[in-house]
Amino acid sequence: MLESDKHISVLLNESIDGLALKPDGCYIDCTFGRGGHSRKILEQLGPNGRLIAFDLDPQAITWSKSFIDDDRFEIIHSNFSDIEEKIAEKNLVGQIDGVLMDLGVSSPQLDEAERGFSFMREGPLDMRMNNQVGQSAADWLASAEESEIAFVLKEYGEERFARKIARAIVHDRTNTPFTTTRQLASLLERIIKKKEPGKHPATRTFQAVRIQVNGELEAIKKALEGALTVLAHQGRLSVISFHSLEDRLVKRFFNQHSKPPAIPRGLPIMDSELNKNISLKLVSKAIKPSESEIQANPRSRSSVLRVAARIRE
Ligand SMILES: C[S@@+](CC[C@H](N)C(=O)[O-])C[C@H]1O[C@@H](n2cnc3c(N)ncnc32)[C@H](O)[C@@H]1O
Repeated sequence: MLESDKHISVLLNESIDGLALKPDGCYIDCTFGRGGHSRKILEQLGPNGRLIAFDLDPQAITWSKSFIDDDRFEIIHSNFSDIEEKIAEKNLVGQIDGVLMDLGVSSPQLDEAERGFSFMREGPLDMRMNNQVGQSAADWLASAEESEIAFVLKEYGEERFARKIARAIVHDRTNTPFTTTRQLASLLERIIKKKEPGKHPATRTFQAVRIQVNGELEAIKKALEGALTVLAHQGRLSVISFHSLEDRLVKRFFNQHSKPPAIPRGLPIMDSELNKNISLKLVSKAIKPSESEIQANPRSRSSVLRVAARIRE
């Protein structure tokens, strides 16, 4: 394996423990990456276990084919938002014992300058998880309206200088289109005068543009709903998030499906009626990486794991 192909899996033991693996169970790894979680699952499955993985990135798919030779394993080159359709094609809806999501980008994606995810490395401004289809970050920045850019930076990057940055991008792009990572990063270094401690001024904008280009939040919402459909009774859902927008979505989804809806006091509604739509049970509180994990792998710093179990009547 090449050094550039390495990814240190985050919250590995905790997220796999969360799946409460059964040796003969059928599991889904929505985010194969470099297979750290998948390999751990395969290690713990028996000969009749099964693992279906997803990844959008063609390089992750090629890597899996070179490094995992196991009849119990298959990988689907698709968006994990298609989980319900893909699992329905296999007649496995309602029979999945666990779904794992390790959201965001892998280290090879971040470290390879050509992918355009990193503001530290000069490369084409791409940022697509699947770089064979769709609009790159450069294409989007060349055509989006100023108001749309400002909206994306504010919503997906929680960037307080969103409007100022959008204005500067639209002004500068008329002379020189943004085609490289460092070109965009330099504009942000120039525009953002008030630095956040420990944060590069490009962090928020790069996160926002990446989320926009890949439709990340919509994909997560659809995948969570899909996971609920495909999971068997007592099947586990184990999700690792890397920033507050992702975690907020996961937390809200878990709460919405594990608690009865809030209704005005005194309404004559029976508990059975209220609990009718509950389809998840929270298994643990949010789990964060230990100090030793953060020291060994600083990229784990912002990760949060949430685990729930599917409840079916
Ligand atoms: C953090 S990495 C996963 C690392 C993996 N758990 C490991 O231990 O090697 C996230 C992976 O999910 C993939 N990914 C992100 N969004 C996706 C989506 N919507 N559908 C499918 N794959 C996605 C990325 O391409 C990346 O390879």
